[in-house]
Amino acid sequence: MSDPIENILVTGGAGYIGSHVVRDLGEQGYNPIVFDNLSTGNRDFVLYGDFIKGDLEDIYSITKIIKKYKIKSVIHFAAFIAVEESVNKPIKYYNNNFFNSLNLIKSCVENGVENFVFSSTAAVYGIPEELPVKENSQLNPVNPYGRSKMFTELLLKDISCINKNFNYIALRYFNVAGADKKLRIGQKYENPTHLITLALRTALGEYESLKIFGTDYNTPDGTAIRDYIHIDDLSNAHILCLDHLKKKKNNEVFNCGYGKGYSVSEVVNTVKKVTKINIKTVNSKRREGDPPILIADSNLIKDKLGWRPKHNDLELIINSAWEWEKKLKKKENK
Ligand code: UFG
Repeated sequence: MSDPIENILVTGGAGYIGSHVVRDLGEQGYNPIVFDNLSTGNRDFVLYGDFIKGDLEDIYSITKIIKKYKIKSVIHFAAFIAVEESVNKPIKYYNNNFFNSLNLIKSCVENGVENFVFSSTAAVYGIPEELPVKENSQLNPVNPYGRSKMFTELLLKDISCINKNFNYIALRYFNVAGADKKLRIGQKYENPTHLITLALRTALGEYESLKIFGTDYNTPDGTAIRDYIHIDDLSNAHILCLDHLKKKKNNEVFNCGYGKGYSVSEVVNTVKKVTKINIKTVNSKRREGDPPILIADSNLIKDKLGWRPKHNDLELIINSAWEWEKKLKKKENK
């Protein structure tokens, strides 16, 4: 008899990154059990498995699901992600990103979950002393978003020390963009804050101009630098993490980026090149909570998990996001 299909609990699986990982889990033969309150997610983004609408505040429902589906592995995405909003609404961020993670992790530990992949962020580093930044660099987040994620990482570390059957990997994402090749899923937020999305929507005429937040950073052109990574490479890293946890049963923290930084101006110029539209930009003051430069050293995940990114090209990433934005726009106009 063949093995039964394994259920994997995916919190936030209807969101941007979560839905791509759900797609890959489904394609790999897993059965994703998506738990999402749809505050920013989309029900129709869940391409595989079962969907349950619910909130992580509700520990009773989480426990019921873990028991019902005999969950051994969890991938935890559900979180708020906007840096500036976190500065203005710290309680919202600590509550959802930390307190609700605590709820989930508590239930996992009490109900026999063994493998936990956590969606962390480059924002835990703050302003790194060394670039590209390595996983063992000091954590010094400069905004509540980064702190809420760092506290959850620390919680996972403490809990896994005393629960030998519970292992975790924290994946520290850099700046994710792009969409599914078949354009079934992608970024869809009512109020987007991300640079590439806003630049593309400006190209589509949804906004008159794009603000450049800070032109006085200590960088070659004065604008902030980030390491942009294609969603499909990031999604694949989650599958590798899950397989690693299941086989090796040890705790890890991995950066996930390409190791090359692009300034805001370089991104804008690439957007102009890809779209062939000359978007208008307006120089503005720095956005609160923004570090000047974030670039990943991702050698650890390459060495330990054999992660091999396939879309390491800013033009390709922006083109993928552009195709998606055009499709969204077309749908809206129907
Ligand atoms: N930016 C602009 N104009 C805009 C939007 C953004 O100049 O209209 C700038 C920002 O100030 C920043 C850069 O573009 O310097 C990138 O900003 P994003 O909002 O696209 O992304 P962030 O770097 O703020 O944050 C993202 C994710 C976080 C993650 C971080 C890791 O939202 O979850 O990348 O680097 F932690």
